[in-house]
This record gives sequence, C-alpha cells and structure tokens, in this order.
Amino acid sequence: MAKNRTFTMLKPDAVEKGNIGGILEQISASGFRIVALKMTQMTLHDAQTFYAVHNERPFFGELVEFMTRGPIVAVVLEKENAVEDFRILIGATNPAEAAEGTIRNKFATSIAENAVHGSDSDENAEIESAFHFSGRELF
Ligand code: RTP
Ligand code: MG
Repeated sequence: MAKNRTFTMLKPDAVEKGNIGGILEQISASGFRIVALKMTQMTLHDAQTFYAVHNERPFFGELVEFMTRGPIVAVVLEKENAVEDFRILIGATNPAEAAEGTIRNKFATSIAENAVHGSDSDENAEIESAFHFSGRELF
C-alpha cells in the first residue's frame, strides 16, 4: 500500500500534563514520519470550525471550551495506511475502552480529555492538515 498522511493534535490536556515528548516518542516508534509540527492555540472560531461536524452534539460546547483552553501541538504524519493505523495506535475515544498500550489508554483522562485527535479519513486528513499548515510547512 502507498504511503499516505494523517493529521493529529496533541490536545490541551496532553500539553498541560507534560506528555508531548512521551506521545511523540510513541508515534515515531510506531513508524510514522513527522511531515509538519507546530505548537499553537486554537481560537473559539478555529475550534468551532475544526469540529463543525459535531455542532449538534450535546458535548460540542464542552469540546470547544476544552480545545481552546491552552496550546495544542498540530502534527502531520506519513506512513503506509496512515489514517487507519494511527486510529489503531490512539485507541478508542473513551480511554476506558482504549486497548492496552494505546496512546489514549496511557495518556487520556476521560472521553472528553482524551490526549490526541486522529483524522478519520484521507479526505479529512487533507482538510485538517490544510487547516493548520501551509504548503511550505509540510516537509
Ligand atoms: P477525535 O476526532 O478528536 O480524533 O476523536 P474521535 O474521532 O475518537 O471522537 P469523535 O466522536 O470525533 O469526538 C470528537 C471529540 O469530542 C470529544 N467528546 N466528548 N463528552 C463526550 O461524551 C464526548 N464525546 C466526544 C472528545 O474529545 C473526542 O475526541
Ligand atoms: Mg473524530
């Protein structure tokens, strides 16, 4: 299978708890190459736009508040089968259901504060990457 790309954010809870290094180490050790990386803080408008697909959900307000409360680390990753393999690496949305050894199993606190985002399709990976990075920031 050809190499493709996915997009991730280390969420505010992961940054606050000092887990940037630990999470990036696990991602690199799992065979993903870092294509782009930056620390940034999403505005209210950014978070509402990024998670617009969830705007009717009961947790939307809480999600936007959480995602804007501090810096995140935005990262584009490359690997064969990147989108699917990264979703396996991070584990289930709810850390109580995340498989042993997955990033959310090790680093997440709750279903809301679950340490990392992972794109759910090649199309969304491209949209989410372009949301945070210009072409000259992708290597
Ligand atoms: P993500 O998009 O961040 O990778 O997470 P996901 O696909 O595993 O889960 P999704 O259904 O897309 O939900 C997006 C994020 O919303 C927060 N959430 N809170 N309080 C709740 O019940 C609840 N449910 C979801 C989480 O931060 C989740 O990752
Ligand atoms: Mg999602």
